[in-house]
Amino acid sequence: MSFPVIAQTTTPLLPYHFSVPDKKALVGQYVGKSLDQVRTPRLVVDRTVVKKNCEKLGAIAQRQQVKIRVHVKTHKTIEATAIELDAAGTDAIIVSTLAEAYYLVQSPLVANGQLKDVLLGLPISPDKFDEMFALADQVETFSIFIDHDQTLDALDAYYEEKYGKASGRRVNVFFKVECGNGRAGAAIHNDASLNLARRLVNSSYINLMGLYTHAGQSYACRDHASAVSFLQAERDAAITYRDYLSENGITIDKCSIGATPTVMAAGLADPSVLQGITELHAGAFAFMDRQQVATSLASPSDVAITVLSRVASRYPERGSILLDAGALAFSKDPSPQGGFGDIVGREHWKLNKIAQEHGVVTEIPAEDFADAPVGKVFQVRPNHCCLTAACFEFYLVVENGGDKVVDVWVPVRGW
Ligand SMILES: Cc1ncc(COP(=O)(O)O)c(C=O)c1O
Repeated sequence: MSFPVIAQTTTPLLPYHFSVPDKKALVGQYVGKSLDQVRTPRLVVDRTVVKKNCEKLGAIAQRQQVKIRVHVKTHKTIEATAIELDAAGTDAIIVSTLAEAYYLVQSPLVANGQLKDVLLGLPISPDKFDEMFALADQVETFSIFIDHDQTLDALDAYYEEKYGKASGRRVNVFFKVECGNGRAGAAIHNDASLNLARRLVNSSYINLMGLYTHAGQSYACRDHASAVSFLQAERDAAITYRDYLSENGITIDKCSIGATPTVMAAGLADPSVLQGITELHAGAFAFMDRQQVATSLASPSDVAITVLSRVASRYPERGSILLDAGALAFSKDPSPQGGFGDIVGREHWKLNKIAQEHGVVTEIPAEDFADAPVGKVFQVRPNHCCLTAACFEFYLVVENGGDKVVDVWVPVRGW
C-alpha cells in the first residue's frame, strides 16, 4: 500500500533563521568577574568537570573498543563538542535540531577535521529534506533516522523529483528501532518494520548505516547492577533484531546503542557485554545532573552545571526564601529525589515549588537565615541538564570549582 505524499513548505534554510549572541562581547563583559558579581539567574559550567566526564567516556570507549557518538543537544555549543570529541576520541555527533547541525557544521570543527560525522537524532520530517541535502554537502557524513514507511515514501518521491537515480547521490540512513523506551523507533519483530528494513536495504540510493536504539528507560536504574541489566537488555534487543532481520535475508552489520546510564554501565561491565555492538552514543554524560545522580552512576561532584541564583526575598516565619530563578531557569523536569534542584552546600533545604520566575525554597532551619540575606548568591544543581541548559542564551564557564569566570560558551537555539 502506498501513502499520499504531503506537500511540504518551502521556508528558507536555517542559516537565515538563527543567530547566536556575540561571544566576543560576552567574554569582554564576563571573563574575570567572580560569580557573585554577575546578574542572576545564569548558568555556570565547570569546564574541569566537563573534561573529566568526557575523559571517563573516552576510557569506556577504549575499554570496550567501540566507536562513540556524542549527543550535543545537552549543551549545543562548539566548545563542549570540541572537548567531547577530543576526550572520547571520536569525530561523530548526534544533533537534535537542524540549528545544531548548521552551527556545528559551519564551525571550525569541520574545517579542522575534528568533526566528520553528523546524525540528525529525530526521525526526519519531509519539510527538512532540503536542509538535509544542503547539510550533507558540507560534512563528510550526514545521516538521518527513518522509522516509518511514509517517511521513506516521501523521501523516495523527493529524491526522484530533485535528483533521480542517475545522479548517483546517496542518503545515509540509520534504521531507528524501539527497544523499550516507547518514544521514537519502529516496533521490532513485526511485518511493517521487516518490510521497512527490506526497503531500506534494497533502496538504490540509501546507504544503510545500521540499527539505532536509545534506552531512555535506563534512567530508572538505581544501582550498578540494574544499570548493567538495562545495558544487557538494550544490547540483546538490538542484536536479536539484527539476527532476526538476517534470518529474513536482510543484512545490517552495524548497531548503535546507548543512553547515559547504559553507556556508564558499559564502563562497569565486562567487554563481552557489547558483543556485536559497533557504536555507543550518549549526551547527558558531559554535564550530568540530579537525575544521573539518582541512577547511582554519577555523584554530585560529577555535575558540571549549576544555576546561579540570588535570594530575592526571605520569610523566616515560614522557613522559606525566594530565589530569583524559576521554571524558566531550572525547567520543570522532575527527579526521583523530589524537588527541582539541590542548593549546593545547603542540600538540606528544599527547592520544592517553582513558578515561571519564582523559586521557593522551604524547610530552612531558623539558624540558617543569618547566612541567607537578600542578594546572596547560591548555586543550584539541576534535575535535568539538557532542559536546564536550554533555558539560557549563554553559559558562564569556571574551572576547578572556582568562582572566576574564565570563558563564555554560546549555544545555538531554535530548530
Ligand atoms: C536519539 C537519541 N540518542 C541518544 C541520546 C542520548 O541520551 P542521554 O542523554 O541519556 O545520553 C538521546 C537523548 O535523548 C536521543 O534522543
